[in-house]
Amino acid sequence: MRVLLIGSGGREHALAWKINQSKQLEKLFIASGNGGTENFATNIKLDVTNHDEVIKFCQSEKIDLIIIGPEVPLVAGIVDDLQKAGFNVFGPTKAAAQLEGSKAFTKKLCDEMNIPTAAYAKFDALEPALEYIKAQSFPIVIKADGLAAGKGVTIATNLEEANDAISDCFSGVFGEAGSELVIEEFLEGEELSIFAVSDGKNFITLASAQDHKRAYDGDKGPNTGGMGAYSPAPLLDDKLLKRIESEIIAPTINGMAIRGMPFSGVLFAGLMVKNGAPFLIEHNARFGDPECQVLMMRLNSDILELLMASARGDISDIKLAWSNKAALTVVMAAKGYPVSYEKGDEIKINQPDDENIQIFHAGTLLKGDKIIANGGRVLNITAIGDDVEQAQKSAYQAIKNIDWQNSFYRTDIGWRAVSRNKSPADNK
Ligand code: AMP
Ligand code: GLY
Repeated sequence: MRVLLIGSGGREHALAWKINQSKQLEKLFIASGNGGTENFATNIKLDVTNHDEVIKFCQSEKIDLIIIGPEVPLVAGIVDDLQKAGFNVFGPTKAAAQLEGSKAFTKKLCDEMNIPTAAYAKFDALEPALEYIKAQSFPIVIKADGLAAGKGVTIATNLEEANDAISDCFSGVFGEAGSELVIEEFLEGEELSIFAVSDGKNFITLASAQDHKRAYDGDKGPNTGGMGAYSPAPLLDDKLLKRIESEIIAPTINGMAIRGMPFSGVLFAGLMVKNGAPFLIEHNARFGDPECQVLMMRLNSDILELLMASARGDISDIKLAWSNKAALTVVMAAKGYPVSYEKGDEIKINQPDDENIQIFHAGTLLKGDKIIANGGRVLNITAIGDDVEQAQKSAYQAIKNIDWQNSFYRTDIGWRAVSRNKSPADNK
């Protein structure tokens, strides 16, 4: 199979690493990839906003399957154009990607399909939103409707913060993404991510993961794309999984099919679990980053079979095998991320000769044989172990072999899982 993968983050390095293990793979191109993918795949420069350019490349390279990593090209409709040109594409169409591209769209689907989620109200003008918020209690959550690179959500603890967030949104801080706004109830509980691959009708649930969104230890500091993750999530038992599948995943897939916009690709449900009951916080239309890294470490099946079956519209014969072990990844970021940071440092990596440890690159590039920092989130030190604690130990051990002065990372990735395992009485 000749494959084109679109994206350049740690998620795409992990996907590429797994794809590279497939017996079906003949050639893997990545647009644009990073310093890590360059070692075993062909990084290419393509303007992915120019769909004709992507189509021409796929025609000349006789690409059999195109896999879309990030959300921006999905919401821009790249899948629709590639499908029209006759290609197999893993990822949802523009209409189906609204599950991530519009929070109001997803909220409406939740109403129609009885999917448990936070109570909400939707606004498309400043004054009514400011009027509404006066009568609410705090904390409360204010969300720009569209894609805002993870920055469009404010948890306001008082009226002043809420007013500021609402005004920012309508003043154009998030561009078009802020022309509508959702205000929703604050949900308490523990967060959990569930991934399901669908062909538009059927779905197959992948492994679970938990992410650490805040920049600093103790889940403090600004929100980021994710500073680390682990899988499986100890919070998830069979009973909770069944509830998530029947109350959230199945009604989403069915609801989209009923609307005539079947969802094919990977559905990433961000959930809050309170007293054993799941609530949907948001849907994403792609793999999580860095959650994908830990899922790829645990997947024992051929990923190309799964992705191609979804792209062709029938996953009913797919069975997946997962490692019983746990995986954990720690993000190394440039000092100052997520606000402002420098690029261009040289990073020296002493790659451990141990298949249980993978160093996935995110924002890196190669200059000759030198690895150069080229982004905010730069490396994902990922390990697999008998349990989260062991994976955590191995990942932090491996970080010691990386020489990069201007970096930082959290030292407590997996803390919740480790403390849960240490006190089984809490595990209820
Ligand atoms: P989102 O971009 O919708 O995933 O929101 C980013 C983060 O904000 C989530 O991962 C949660 O930690 C938090 N969040 C979003 N919505 C809510 C909510 N209704 N209640 C509590 N926390 C929330
Ligand atoms: N790690 C969260 C995300 O990919 O959205």
